Parts: sequence; C-alpha cells; structure tokens
Amino acid sequence: MQTVPFNFNAGKNLEILSQAAFLTTHCAGKTNVMVTAWGALGVMWKLPVFVAMVRQSRYSYQLLEETRRFSITFPYVQAAKAIAVFGQVSGRTVDKLALTGFSTRPGRTAGIPVLDVPGMHLECSVIYARLMSADKLDPAIQELWYDRQQNNYHAFFISQILDSYITP
Ligand SMILES: Cc1cc2nc3c(=O)[nH]c(=O)nc-3n(C[C@H](O)[C@H](O)[C@H](O)COP(=O)(O)O)c2cc1C
Repeated sequence: MQTVPFNFNAGKNLEILSQAAFLTTHCAGKTNVMVTAWGALGVMWKLPVFVAMVRQSRYSYQLLEETRRFSITFPYVQAAKAIAVFGQVSGRTVDKLALTGFSTRPGRTAGIPVLDVPGMHLECSVIYARLMSADKLDPAIQELWYDRQQNNYHAFFISQILDSYITP
C-alpha cells in the first residue's frame, strides 16, 4: 500500500470516474458498494475534497445520511462484473458483496472499508450535504437528467478527503 496525495493521478482518476468508480458505505455492521460516475475532486475551505453526487433513491444515500462517511475507489483493473452489479442492484435488498464475491479491506482512517481491488482509494468524511433544488437548476440539465414527478434529485456530499492511497 502506497500513501499518495489526494490529487495523485488526478487526470487518470477523473477519467476512470467518468466511466465508473465505487462508493463504499458502512453502517451497523453492513457494507454496501454503489457505482458512481459523477463527482468532483478539488479544494474547498482549504481542505482536499471529493464531492459525491448521490440520488435520494439510493440505499447509499440513506447510509450516507446516517454515517456521513464513505470511501471512493478508482479501480486500476477491469471491473465490468462489479460495475454491472454494484451499479444496478440496490443494497437495500441484496448483499452485493456476497453476490459478486468481491470483498473489502478495512479502511485506515475514516472507519469505512474500501473495495478490495487494485486502485486508488479515498477515505472521506462529509463536511456539507445539500439536496439539489429544482428551482435553481438549469432547465436544460433538468430536462436531460431529472423528472420533476419522481423527485429523484441528487444530493451533493462535499467531503473532506482524510486519507488517500494506492493498493496493488
Ligand atoms: C456507470 C454508472 C454510473 C453511476 N453513477 C451514479 C452516480 O453518480 N450517482 C448515483 O446516485 N447513482 C449512480 N449510478 C447508479 C447506482 O450505482 C445504482 O442505482 C446502484 O444500484 C445504487 O445502489 P444502492 O441502492 O445500493 O445505493 C450509476 C450507475 C452506473 C452503472
């Protein structure tokens, strides 16, 4: 395991994120993983941050609201099977780790496990969470990505990156 700065391999990691990264939550002894392809890496309040975008309907949203902690994994290997399951099945009804045979390893800092695949991992703690407000949204983005009836907007979880490292 190699400790690296939060912005190490930033270009590569953002490229991976645009395809699929993994967001892991853990609450009451249960670990859940979902796929995320939207997010941001940057600096806010002079802190290194990752901004996760999670829709209200996700089980992960519920767990994030409860624990305000998560890890992000940018996989450095092909992970098509994991993406198919973690990105389509809800952990509300299924233990996705058991279903896929993937496992997690204990996190080092935030008390949240990380997905055990070769890649770069961020351990994060939510600083500020905010649900999108439809009245402030660009109509073109509303049209493309949201249905007012479903009220399934994203929440932004602006989160301090507490630890960052690469696993082989
Ligand atoms: C490529 C890909 C990218 C995704 N990106 C996001 C995302 O950024 N935010 C989000 O809320 N859901 C995203 N999803 C959908 C969730 O991963 C999916 O709904 C998942 O089953 C939620 O799991 P959960 O209910 O256990 O949290 C994505 C799915 C895929 C396949």
